[in-house]
Amino acid sequence: MEPICGGRSPIALELQPGTYWWCVCGRSKTQPFCDNSHQGSGIEPLEVTLEAPRRISFCTCKMTTRPPFCDGTHKRLPPLPEEAPAVSPPGMAP
Ligand code: FES
Repeated sequence: MEPICGGRSPIALELQPGTYWWCVCGRSKTQPFCDNSHQGSGIEPLEVTLEAPRRISFCTCKMTTRPPFCDGTHKRLPPLPEEAPAVSPPGMAP
């Protein structure tokens, strides 16, 4: 299975030292972290270990080139159908 889009914008969090599991598959309902929804997908979460408190902007679209960090790729995602600009048929007023 391929990762799916888990969100369309990053989630910024202030985290304490510890181990976190970033959702790679995009199916977790607790983005940006794993909720075990990857079971059976063949995709495993990414371990993130912090030695000191840190603010992290986590990718949720799963298209970043720097996992688990947002790299701005979500800004280039195609618009959702409800976000696409309305197009009037030729000859019709908008
Ligand atoms: S949320 Fe994925 S690159 Fe920003």
